[in-house]
Amino acid sequence: MPYQRITLTHFLIQEQRRLGGSGSFTGLMTDIVFACKMIAHEVNRGALAGNLGLAGSENVQGEEQKKLDVLANDIFMQMNSRGGNYGGMASEELEDVHAVTGAAEGKYLLLFDPLDGSSNIDVNISVGSIFSILRLPDGASCVDEATYLQQGVQQVAAGYALYGSSTMLVLTTGNGVNGFTLDTNVGMFLLTHPDMTIPADTKEFAINASRSRFWEPPVRRYVDECLAGKEGPRGKDFNMRWVASMVAEVHRILCRGGVFLYPADAENMKKGGKLRLMYEANPMAFIVEQAGGGASTGRTRIMDLKPTHLHQRVPVILGSKTEVDKLVAYHAEADGK
Ligand code: AHG
Ligand code: MN
Ligand code: MN
Repeated sequence: MPYQRITLTHFLIQEQRRLGGSGSFTGLMTDIVFACKMIAHEVNRGALAGNLGLAGSENVQGEEQKKLDVLANDIFMQMNSRGGNYGGMASEELEDVHAVTGAAEGKYLLLFDPLDGSSNIDVNISVGSIFSILRLPDGASCVDEATYLQQGVQQVAAGYALYGSSTMLVLTTGNGVNGFTLDTNVGMFLLTHPDMTIPADTKEFAINASRSRFWEPPVRRYVDECLAGKEGPRGKDFNMRWVASMVAEVHRILCRGGVFLYPADAENMKKGGKLRLMYEANPMAFIVEQAGGGASTGRTRIMDLKPTHLHQRVPVILGSKTEVDKLVAYHAEADGK
């Protein structure tokens, strides 16, 4: 019964009261919720709406854009420009930062990956959207990239939408993590996963093993030990998963534990890794830490990194605390620390 559950709007109002805020946070999220509902609709329509396949263009990172990458980016930008909450935005799909015209009162910045895991679109596997909300410092300019280059610890809120077998929105405002499922009959997100917590221990890991020949020694050591199972140093059998959609992997980890790795390796090292700091690694690190997990490059806590550029890539290791700590220890050992 939908009326027996807390709606996302009511949840936000409660949070607002708890924090003694002015109501702007509910406004910030309302725009994002509309955008995610619209993207969910387009993803769900798939081939019926002619939404599959390539757009015929490349983004700033030299990646081929899918039609839905472009559409999701347009939806995110349009929906979040109207409420006047955001002074500026940055997206995986936009080379430069974007100042919102006519939003002089906007006190926040929105950084997002409009469609994550887009290699999965054409094969009907889960994709998602990731967002990070930062404060716009007084007097800072929304056309200046430096304004957006804030550390992960400065995030006001972060979340993702998962367009999977059901559509979900998972959110943190720095007070734990809560998950809401879209009830398509009434068009509302309802609280279904209160206070999500990641178990500290796990028997499941996720890494793209096709890259194993490029791995650094600490990553290789960790995976080898997992693969050795009961007979190996870990003394237990591990399970492996790889969806190739970070949103889906993080969601699985929030639901049942696990560790996710997209490390820097010999092939991607020059670029810094694969995943982008500002709109993939930082928001996911915030969510995972708020759920009791860990998030590190292997050498530094992700949210402590000082960003150097908007589309900066970083190594990502996140999930169950014990496993992340072990990986950090293996990196330190390999570095002779
Ligand atoms: P995006 O679709 O936004 O470019 O991100 C894809 C990312 C991430 O979601 C996923 O974990 C990873 O790239 C998949 O990489 P592989 O293709 O190496 O599996
Ligand atoms: Mn992505
Ligand atoms: Mn993307």
